[in-house]
Amino acid sequence: MTTAPSDGILVTGGTGFLGGAVVAELLGSPNWPRTVLLVRAPSPAEGAARLAANLRRFGASDALLARIAPQQIICGDITDPGAFAGDRRLTVITRVLNCAAVTSFGSHPMIWRTNVDGTLAFAGAIFGLPHLQRFVQVGTAMICGDSPPAVVREDDYPKAGVSHLVEYTASKAEAELQLRSGFPDAPLVVARPSIIVGHSRLGCGPSHSIYWAFRMSDAMQRLMNDPRGIIDVVPVDFTARSLLHLLLKPTLAHRTYHVSAGPGMSPSFRQISAAFGRALGDGRTTDRYEVVTYEDLVAAQDRFHDWFGRCNRRLMLRAMRIYGTFAGLGAAFDNKRLLDEGATPPPRFTDYLHLCVETSRGSTVPEQMLVDFM
Ligand SMILES: NC(=O)c1ccc[n+]([C@@H]2O[C@H](COP(=O)([O-])OP(=O)(O)OC[C@H]3O[C@@H](n4cnc5c(N)ncnc54)[C@H](OP(=O)(O)O)[C@@H]3O)[C@@H](O)[C@H]2O)c1
Repeated sequence: MTTAPSDGILVTGGTGFLGGAVVAELLGSPNWPRTVLLVRAPSPAEGAARLAANLRRFGASDALLARIAPQQIICGDITDPGAFAGDRRLTVITRVLNCAAVTSFGSHPMIWRTNVDGTLAFAGAIFGLPHLQRFVQVGTAMICGDSPPAVVREDDYPKAGVSHLVEYTASKAEAELQLRSGFPDAPLVVARPSIIVGHSRLGCGPSHSIYWAFRMSDAMQRLMNDPRGIIDVVPVDFTARSLLHLLLKPTLAHRTYHVSAGPGMSPSFRQISAAFGRALGDGRTTDRYEVVTYEDLVAAQDRFHDWFGRCNRRLMLRAMRIYGTFAGLGAAFDNKRLLDEGATPPPRFTDYLHLCVETSRGSTVPEQMLVDFM
């Protein structure tokens, strides 16, 4: 979607997984000359270099990377908007996409300061811009906590009393609540992706994030949930295009959207196992998963080296507990609102899983999972 010539676009988080996919989409589009990026870097040149290094992972060619001008980089941190709020490039900004966040599933000291305090401070500065028309805050569908209904709708959450699996999702829920109550009249749209795994053309080339959890179950042939249960997974390129659709479409019917596979395109673990079988060529047509408890996995830890190679058993068990619980939610996130806005429908995880398998051959599960625990 192309914006009006007067539209200026600001994107944060361009050095990350999802923000990188967004910038990769923008870079080759007519919207690129109107785009500026907030990047944590000591100078615009270094910011441009950080951005370019990330975009290479998305397959950006040298010719495309040459389109990044240091003048498009605003050096800054969302927790300190006072340092860049007076930048004259912001005066023409009409559309802002905030992908910046601390997404660690560990106990990262900056989670709350960035995702709640920083997001609020940044949004407050942006809502003061003279020509702002829309601020899209990237949330997460996982604010549903540990007991969601089978089909989650946008207005079901955030709500009080939810038990969160990790501090990260609690912080994202709190940010939404405070943005809505603190800025009730702001042109705020919240877009909540479900679980982002790989890229529909590049597999895990851009990032291994979360893919390793599926690989881990497959290596063990063990699951902590019913293999008939489904999981809502989307590739990063679909997510990025959907976010840009929500950012640039002239009018939207709602203020909150899931960016998800939805009930129709969320595969079961049995289907995921069959897709692994096709990709690995091991002849299986359905799952052979043994359903186990966390305690069974603790008891089996002597076998971790056989399954995964060299690894830290405590970290492996922690990952199994967290991701096993996410996998067992069995929920799909309704995406009717997004599709009704004219966004392209999502592909199924099982249609591009073979690309994730291919692009993971050079690394082990313990190596791949580090990206989510730093
Ligand atoms: N990945 C998923 O499965 C998933 C699913 C649902 C929702 N989401 C949401 O999508 C968004 C992006 O996630 P991601 O997976 O792309 O995370 P990511 O790869 O960790 O990227 C995070 C980005 O945020 C930037 N950032 C962090 N703190 C910042 C600060 N204080 N000021 C400015 N920039 C800062 C990072 O910059 P540096 O490079 O300088 O660190 C990086 O560019 C998040 O809001 C997340 O909640 C992700």
